[in-house]
Amino acid sequence: MSPEEAATRVASLRTEIRRHDYLYYVRDSPTLDDAAYDRLFEELKQLEETFPHLVTPDSPTLRVGGELLEGFESVQHTAPMLSLDSSQDEAALRRFDDRLRKSLLKEGDSTPVEYVIDPKLDGLSVELVYQDGVFLRAATRGDGRKGEAITENVRTIAAVPLRLRNTDRPVPKLLAVRGEIILQLAGFEKLNESLVAAGKDPFANPRNAAAGTMRQLDPQITASRPLDVYVYDILAMEPAEESAAPSEITSQWQVLEALRDWGLRVNDRPRRGTSVEDILQYHREIGAARDDLPYEIDGIVIKLDALTARERVGMTSRFPRWAYAFKFPPRQEATRIEDIIAGVGRTGVITPVAVLEPVLLGGVTVSRATLHNREEVARKDVRPGDLVRVQRAGDVIPQVIERVEEPDRDRGEPFRMPETCPSCSTVLVERGPFTVCPNSFECPAQLAARLTHFGSRNALDIEGLGEETAKALIDQGLVRQLPQLFDLRPLQLLELEGFAEKSATNLVAAIAKAAHAELPRFLFGLGIPEVGVTVARELARHFRTLEAFRQATDEELQEISGVGPRMAEEIRAFFDQASNQKVLDELLDGRLHLQAMPQTAETADGNAPFEAKTFVFTGGMERFSRPQAAAAVEKGGGKVVSSVSRKTGYVVVGADPGSKYKKAQDLGVEILDEAAFLELLTAHDLVS
Ligand code: IVH
Repeated sequence: MSPEEAATRVASLRTEIRRHDYLYYVRDSPTLDDAAYDRLFEELKQLEETFPHLVTPDSPTLRVGGELLEGFESVQHTAPMLSLDSSQDEAALRRFDDRLRKSLLKEGDSTPVEYVIDPKLDGLSVELVYQDGVFLRAATRGDGRKGEAITENVRTIAAVPLRLRNTDRPVPKLLAVRGEIILQLAGFEKLNESLVAAGKDPFANPRNAAAGTMRQLDPQITASRPLDVYVYDILAMEPAEESAAPSEITSQWQVLEALRDWGLRVNDRPRRGTSVEDILQYHREIGAARDDLPYEIDGIVIKLDALTARERVGMTSRFPRWAYAFKFPPRQEATRIEDIIAGVGRTGVITPVAVLEPVLLGGVTVSRATLHNREEVARKDVRPGDLVRVQRAGDVIPQVIERVEEPDRDRGEPFRMPETCPSCSTVLVERGPFTVCPNSFECPAQLAARLTHFGSRNALDIEGLGEETAKALIDQGLVRQLPQLFDLRPLQLLELEGFAEKSATNLVAAIAKAAHAELPRFLFGLGIPEVGVTVARELARHFRTLEAFRQATDEELQEISGVGPRMAEEIRAFFDQASNQKVLDELLDGRLHLQAMPQTAETADGNAPFEAKTFVFTGGMERFSRPQAAAAVEKGGGKVVSSVSRKTGYVVVGADPGSKYKKAQDLGVEILDEAAFLELLTAHDLVS
């Protein structure tokens, strides 16, 4: 490709990628599947590698996290970032409204008061600056005048556009906006799980996690965490020179519209109101929805809509008079630990659970909180009888944050993990910081949850096998082990409460249908620790049959993308457990008829010429980008892997190959140059 052609292609790829980022992250309505998106992205990356002069600061590829930072520079905000007066108290809210109305009248403004009310996001306040539409800088709030430049970290947040959208609304010459960086609850839970698994301290709440992540000196770490942003205010703006009449923005509502037009992510819940009653109504509604929101909020913010009126009322010594935060009751309280017990989770992980004196946390009574694992209990040094601070975030399981010191009190004995499973008495094993009951399918505490998981939507999708039914089946002694699920007869189910002839026949039919499940669903349904939907699919694609997968060595497992040493160890441990082997044997003995993994695609000669063959690429090719080459290989039923082993099918060597070339020679793996690779593809009609 000539440099000119490359420049054109790079520009069009960036336009496409930006459009899809916008649709995906800002509008929540993607129009492209992940694989197709990845191909665009890979192609852009390859072109930028080949033609480095084409890299620009707003290229989507720069999101992945570049150089390590030395520290954070202090920067002056474009305009002061004020903080808000706040309370949880309705009377205080009424006083705010009252004062504001009086102060408007005093300034001679008698137009009816209109407010914009929106959720108060519990995150990290940031300033984002765009110059000529290109993302220039981001800073923390700091002391309100100066903050820390966290530009490189913010660049990794996919919801932050690196370039503003050009629509009918001209992009300003300079635009400084204010917003909130948050970590969605799902991401927060996952992050904490992985921190705990790595023996590190989990974050106390999503806010701390977002703040901690933004202060990472390694943007790669930031990039790996699913941060999000919502913007809600314009701090400063200089209109574009060419726009003779800059579209006038006179209200907060128009601010939000403009931000949205420029492609920035704006929360979808703001509402207009005119009275304290409207505000209270919104507070109630959002309060009720609070647990279902995918992010943490700690109240609502009320802002005067008219911007000129805001200027008129100005500020007190500390806060603007035109805005107010009306907060929700806190979700952190102190209470006493009555006991620490050991709970058995779905995958057999034994979790120390604090039994608490019941306490009201943000409107919900909490009487249990997780202590994660034995190391965590030791680190926090909490014992029965101790006073502790507990916290709840959304639907996340309540957590014990810390112990409150009480110097004069005699403390109880430290907690010790049991040696045997509280449910099935099997001797527990230690895996990293976790203590695990290895008796997966025969441990009653695991069985109900495992059955439910086995029948869940992404697993065998057995309609009618919910948590309640699973429990009932076990309680009635109808299912003592997983394989018995497939032996159930409608007549037996009639014994269960809530089952009639029709529902019983339906469940048995659904189970019979599930017996012909696809391999990836079954693998996911096994509930092997750490093996999620995506990895299960990769594993199934690679091994094709359950038998092959069961036999895989640690090394073979680690060749698969997404499988690290830890997961490989979990998989091996799962299959090495005698009781699990028995369950699998019984399942395969006439009960389950798993479908082998389907071929990737039909090829011209009707089969998959590269079936079970792996390809490794090294060096640059002329005719193919890597994704194109990989797509062709996969179309033929083969797979691309990144490292060369004796088992590698072919190593395709392009210009300036790396060490893989030598390794292929050393191991005697078949080597193809680009021409030979092309020939091979052509022979099987795989070139598009
Ligand atoms: S408006 C001067 N709107 O809450 C008014 N702030 O306690 C500017 N916050 O530091 C703030 N969600 O970081 C506004 N929808 C929202 C908000 C919000 C969260 C934060 C903001 C501020 C803090 C004040």
